[in-house]
Amino acid sequence: MKIIVTGGAGFIGGNFVHHMVNKYPEYQIINLDLLTYAGNLETLKPVENKPNYKFVHGDIADRDFVFKLFEEEKPDIVVNFAAESHVDRSITDPEAFVRTNVMGTTTLLDACRTYGIKRYHQVSTDEVYGDLPLDRPDLFFTETTPLHTSSPYSSSKAGADLFVLAYHRTYGLPVTVSRCSNNYGPYHFPEKLIPLMISRALADEELPVYGDGANVRDWLHVSDHCEAIDLILHKGRVGEIYNIGGHNERTNLEVVKTILKALDKPESLIRYVKDRPGHDRRYAIDPTKIETELGWKPKYNFDTGIRQTIDWYLNNQDWWKHILSGEYSQYFEKMYGDRL
Ligand code: NAD
Ligand code: DAU
Repeated sequence: MKIIVTGGAGFIGGNFVHHMVNKYPEYQIINLDLLTYAGNLETLKPVENKPNYKFVHGDIADRDFVFKLFEEEKPDIVVNFAAESHVDRSITDPEAFVRTNVMGTTTLLDACRTYGIKRYHQVSTDEVYGDLPLDRPDLFFTETTPLHTSSPYSSSKAGADLFVLAYHRTYGLPVTVSRCSNNYGPYHFPEKLIPLMISRALADEELPVYGDGANVRDWLHVSDHCEAIDLILHKGRVGEIYNIGGHNERTNLEVVKTILKALDKPESLIRYVKDRPGHDRRYAIDPTKIETELGWKPKYNFDTGIRQTIDWYLNNQDWWKHILSGEYSQYFEKMYGDRL
């Protein structure tokens, strides 16, 4: 089995590459990544010399490049993690999101149509459903909740999902889609809430909480997300959407206070700042379908997962300090400079 994993130098894609390379030594895992600011080859150090792993530097929206790669590799499966993923960046530069998230996806789909594929899996997000009100804790996103996006990021992800499902219906492409809630865990880029707060608290810097801090996210440890995608690839039904989430809703303020407590830092570091425009209030996933159909169950709850994550950031300070200093971008040159 030959699998192209796109965006495998990012947070979730990197964790997924580790998972697949170690669990399936008989599979060939090809990590295709453009190495934008969010791509970090240092994340792949533990697997970079494994015989079933290969890195390819390239852009999923570059049609000539993608078609040439498919011609050479003839993959059985494509798992598309590659994306511009940060909501705040989508507010300042929406176009990059259209290019990678929509056009990158359609380019991959066209290559799959042309060369044939056993499965194309689209890694999507719960943000395509928009948000839920804070005063209706009984409401959850199911797979049939209408798409109702808020940000340029979520709009580009919803657009991509619609193309994926259209290629299934129109051309019979064997696709699956997963929509997961907020992930956290090792190798999370320190622009996102949890790693940002851990790294800043450790440096005794102010922690910027948007608005009133009452927005709710439904947190899932990244390894549980990786297990879910593995299950969907092996047992999921073609043409189906699977929501992924573990019922771990927390307000942003609760998350920040949990981190401060674990690091023995004072709450006086919290600084309320201007809210994110269009800020979604609450996300909450109903995971009944993946639990009942595929038998998926998360291993972590938020309390065990956040402890593991904080320990990882304490024990792997080089990884995130290299990012903050910009040093991580030199790793590609060091590893691949003489091979190009
Ligand atoms: P990330 O920003 O950490 O990583 C994205 C990766 O994609 C990077 O390695 C980057 O270099 C690569 N990339 C970007 N543009 C590319 C292009 N044009 N061609 C090839 N590679 C490119 O993102 P993440 O948080 O790991 O998210 C991965 C996927 O999961 C995304 O599709 C995202 O929408 C989805 N998702 C994320 C979360 C979350 O909480 N982080 C939750 C649900 C779904
Ligand atoms: O729900 C899944 C989505 O989760 C993914 O699709 C996105 O790729 C991923 O980035 C994430 O989006 P969020 O916007 O929820 O994540 P972020 O870490 O940016 O913010 C989490 C919450 O914390 C959100 O309510 C905004 C708030 N926040 C964020 C930052 C960076 C702050 O209050 N302060 C901050 O500095």
